[in-house]
Amino acid sequence: MKKFLALSLALAMSLSLAACGGDGGSSSGSGSGSTSGSGSAADGAQKIGISMPTQSLERWNRDGSYLDEQFKAAGYETMLTFANNETDQQVNDIQNMIADGVDLLVISAIDGEALNTVMNEAGEAGIPIIAYDRLIMNDNVSYYVSFDNYTVGTLQGQYIVDTLDLENQAGPFNIELTAGDPADNNAPYFFQGAMDQLQPYIDEGKLVVVSGQTDFDTVATAAWDTQTAMERAQNILASYYADGTEVDAWLCSNDSTSLGVTQAIQSDYAGANKSEIIITGQDGDVANLKNIQDGIQSMTVYKAVANEAVVTLDLAKAILNGDTIDETLITNSAWDFDCSYDTESYPTSEGHNCPSFLLVPDVVTADNMQEKLVDTGYYTVGDDGYLVAAG
Ligand code: BGC
Repeated sequence: MKKFLALSLALAMSLSLAACGGDGGSSSGSGSGSTSGSGSAADGAQKIGISMPTQSLERWNRDGSYLDEQFKAAGYETMLTFANNETDQQVNDIQNMIADGVDLLVISAIDGEALNTVMNEAGEAGIPIIAYDRLIMNDNVSYYVSFDNYTVGTLQGQYIVDTLDLENQAGPFNIELTAGDPADNNAPYFFQGAMDQLQPYIDEGKLVVVSGQTDFDTVATAAWDTQTAMERAQNILASYYADGTEVDAWLCSNDSTSLGVTQAIQSDYAGANKSEIIITGQDGDVANLKNIQDGIQSMTVYKAVANEAVVTLDLAKAILNGDTIDETLITNSAWDFDCSYDTESYPTSEGHNCPSFLLVPDVVTADNMQEKLVDTGYYTVGDDGYLVAAG
């Protein structure tokens, strides 16, 4: 209910923009490369540059449009770009925004280490920068807005621990691990959060990683790519499970990797327990929600990105107003969802932590999907019984 209020607010704001006759200049486009545009709300409006990593992974389309709609509805002009997962493109997009005189940048980095030059350029131009969802390793970044990334991993690991009842069962149970993109600062947080739950049982011998592949670099998935995750899973299945050895759980850091792993299991798995394998995810992508309903994926960690956009908007307003920014942004807000202010967890350089606003992720399974996603207004149920993103 709480989240529904925030979402309703966002939608109401975008409707009121339409009613006020904002020019609505489209600020998203199709497929490849930068898809920029601008939308102006009023003469002399401040301008926000919104740089998203890609349209090929479902969530960034939602983030891009929520941010764009909400900033426009609040009277800002926007420039929204998607960089097709190419760092050079993202640098180029941001340089164009700086040249265009944006007043504030909202950036979700493809590679948190690769934006140094352009972040320094923004810093020299005095443009405040909000790192959106993914931290950028540069001290010019003013603030970070994200979900608690470590907790995302904790929820995935804990789900496996609870579902296998590792406290009480002797096991051993077999598990494999698939992590995210090493260029994404979030990916090690997700993995570490999960491994901190799983490692004690691996040490005890109750959980066995049959492939022996446990370190982040080995289990990582470049660009969070579904095909890459699928091919690695196929290799593991062919090398270690072809004789019918059963895998009981597969940790996947997000839904795009989970999709690859589930595809490999559907096509290449010889074990008898195909429908019982515990497979985790993150995001609530539509294809994965369908898999959860069909019993092919077990859970996803849902992050209400509409609320992430609400926090980003309110933070941007406060920055542009010259307000003092601390936890009072939360206490003075009208947000109907939880968020914490953290000045310790996200360093951009040795000894320099980026002040962060962190929202709270939530576990979604087939059993609570209606309550968490449909009753809250985030998704509707389509004619075929599967969920469709609302709005
Ligand atoms: C986001 C996840 C997403 C992943 C791939 C991460 O930075 O936090 O929500 O699944 O990128 O898009």
